[in-house]
Amino acid sequence: MTVIVTGGAGFIGSNFIFHMLRTYPSYRIICLDKLTYAGNLATLKDVMDNPNFRFVRLDICDRQGVYRLFEEEKPDIIVNFAAESHVDRSIDNPEIFLKTNILGTQVLMDACRKYGISRYHQVSTDEVYGDLPLDRPDLFFTEETPIHTSSPYSSSKAGADLLVMAYNRTYGLPVTISRCSNNYGPYHFPEKLIPLMIANALADKPLPVYGNGLNVRDWLYVEDHCRAIDLIIHKGRTGEVYNVGGHNEMRNIDIVKLICQKLGKPEDLITYVKDRKGHDMRYAIDPTKIHKELGWLPETKFADGIQKTIDWYLTHREWWEEIISGEYQNYYKKMYEEK
Ligand code: NAD
Ligand code: DAU
Repeated sequence: MTVIVTGGAGFIGSNFIFHMLRTYPSYRIICLDKLTYAGNLATLKDVMDNPNFRFVRLDICDRQGVYRLFEEEKPDIIVNFAAESHVDRSIDNPEIFLKTNILGTQVLMDACRKYGISRYHQVSTDEVYGDLPLDRPDLFFTEETPIHTSSPYSSSKAGADLLVMAYNRTYGLPVTISRCSNNYGPYHFPEKLIPLMIANALADKPLPVYGNGLNVRDWLYVEDHCRAIDLIIHKGRTGEVYNVGGHNEMRNIDIVKLICQKLGKPEDLITYVKDRKGHDMRYAIDPTKIHKELGWLPETKFADGIQKTIDWYLTHREWWEEIISGEYQNYYKKMYEEK
């Protein structure tokens, strides 16, 4: 079995590659990644010499390059993680989100049609459902919840999802889609909430909480997401969407306070800053379908996952310090100086 994993030098894609190489020693895994600011070859250093692994630097929008790779490798399964993934960057500059997230998806699916595959899997997000009100804890996103996006990022992911379903209906392409809640764990890029707060707290820098900090996210340990995708590509029904989430809703402010407590840092580092434009209030996944059909359940409790994550950032300082010492500093200044 040959699997192409796009975006495998990023956070979830790299964790998925490690999961697949561990779980299926006979599979050939090819990582296709453009290495944008969010892609990092250092993340993949431990698997680079694995004879079942190949890294190819390529943009998913590069049609000729993608076709060439399909011709060479004759993949059975494509798992598309490649995306611009940060909501704040999409508010600042939407265009690259539309290019990579929608047009790149189209190129990959055209290659699948041209060369034939057994499965194309699109890694989507719960953000395509928009948000839920804080005063209705009884509401959850199901696969039937209408698409209702808030940011250029979520709109680009929703656009891609619609195209994926259209390729299934129109051309019979064997597709599946997963829509997962917020992931956390090793190799999470430090622009995102949890790693940003860990890095800032360790440096005794202000911890910038958007708005009133009461927004709710449904956090899932990254390995649980990887196991869900593994199940879907092997056992999921084609043409279907599967929501992935572990009923672990938390307010942003409580996460930041917990990080302060675990690192022994004072809560007065917390600084309330200008809110994100169009900020979604609450995400909450109903994972009944993937549980009933595929037997998936999350295995890592948040209390354990957050401890493992903090320990990982403490023992892998070179990985994230290298990132935040470079171009990231310009990003941080630009994004946070007006807040
Ligand atoms: P990330 O930003 O950490 O990694 C994205 C990777 O894609 C990087 O390695 C980058 O170099 C690569 N990439 C970007 N544009 C590319 C292009 N044009 N061609 C080839 N490679 C390209 O993202 P992540 O957090 O790991 O998210 C991965 C996927 O999962 C995304 O599709 C995202 O929408 C989805 N998702 C993320 C979360 C989350 O909490 N992080 C939750 C649900 C779904
Ligand atoms: O729900 C899945 C989505 O989760 C994925 O599709 C996205 O790719 C991923 O980036 C993530 O989106 P969020 O916007 O929820 O994640 P982020 O880490 O950027 O922010 C989490 C919450 O924390 C959100 O309410 C905004 C807030 N926040 C974020 C940052 C970076 C802050 O208060 N301060 C910050 O500095």
